[in-house]
Amino acid sequence: MSRKTTISLIKCDVGSLAGHHVVPQPLFKIAERNLQQASEKGLINNHIVFNAGDDLELLMVHEKGEANPDIHKLAWDTFKEAANKALELKLYGAGQDLLKTAFSGNIRGMGPGVAEMEIEERGSDPIVVFGADKTSAGAFNFPLFRIFADPMNTAGLVIDPNMAGGFKFEIMDTLENKKVVLKCPEEMYELIALIGTVQRYMISRVWRARDDLICATGSVTRLSQIAVKYVGKDDPVMIVRAQHGLPAVGEILSPFMHSYLVEGWMRGSHWGPIMPVGLEDSKCTAFDGPPRMVALGFQIANGEIAKDDDGKPMVADLFNDPAFELARHEALENATMLRRMGEFEPARLGPQEMEYTTLGQILEKLKERFKPA
Ligand code: F6R
Ligand code: MG
Ligand code: MG
Repeated sequence: MSRKTTISLIKCDVGSLAGHHVVPQPLFKIAERNLQQASEKGLINNHIVFNAGDDLELLMVHEKGEANPDIHKLAWDTFKEAANKALELKLYGAGQDLLKTAFSGNIRGMGPGVAEMEIEERGSDPIVVFGADKTSAGAFNFPLFRIFADPMNTAGLVIDPNMAGGFKFEIMDTLENKKVVLKCPEEMYELIALIGTVQRYMISRVWRARDDLICATGSVTRLSQIAVKYVGKDDPVMIVRAQHGLPAVGEILSPFMHSYLVEGWMRGSHWGPIMPVGLEDSKCTAFDGPPRMVALGFQIANGEIAKDDDGKPMVADLFNDPAFELARHEALENATMLRRMGEFEPARLGPQEMEYTTLGQILEKLKERFKPA
């Protein structure tokens, strides 16, 4: 039996600097310190702390399996402590994604976004993790389809015999809280019919069909559904496994050579173009965006993230590269085009999907003035 290793990526907006712009240094320091202590105690093996805009992202590698209460508590306590610091500093939106006060064993459903994957380590296991700000989990539907099902994106589907059997997708119906598994290429049209509805159906897991090898997992919460009203944000995270009979890192990144539209952006109520960026530009500005996505690459080695000579986890900032300049340029062109339309659909989301709306109040105010036509 090969070694089992778990990758946990848990994120939360605990408060940010200058509105919903970026995670500031004092909050990073708390996360770094807590995860370092957890490493020293042997709870996790190593970690990387990073940010997607105003979301604090804890990437932890350990051997405790998925949904482990100690790992989830570590994340919860870290977010709580960072939120308290944010409150003390009067940062913006302190603790905005923390729904309840008492931790009950699993952080899922309590506000933070979670993606976890337990793997049996292969000879070499390259991993890419994604974090996005000002959008929701449906933002990964389109690239996941292209990576694991589109032969025009992923050459391996056509020319690597290990991938010829295709991939299986687990789709969550976030409205009715149900899930279904569809296999590609056989059920590709059914898959697209569902996941094209990005606001409702979201890909939660992907496996290689021939041996059920897990190869991708994403956070698929809709906080508004959990809390039955609009609270917090669903800015998503995703873990993808690469190479040697799975899509290559380059095939995983290819869908991001172009921008595409996602829901979110200002007040969670607009369509906006995704902008793939390096960590340096992982901060939202224009109209609170455009929605940004970062991608980090690393290797799993003997239960941890492979380290350099100084014992530091080695990480590649994958979108920090001229290859994504065109996508960033397209994002800006599309952003200006959409913003010219102001609050007119389709720049603005439909009334059911808006996180903020005054429509009810307006209709109430005008109630008496509406006459039969
Ligand atoms: C979207 C987001 C921001 C805020 C906007 C208004 O996910 O976080 O666009 O919705 O800045 O924020 P408030 O209502 O806090 O002033
Ligand atoms: Mg925020
Ligand atoms: Mg956010």
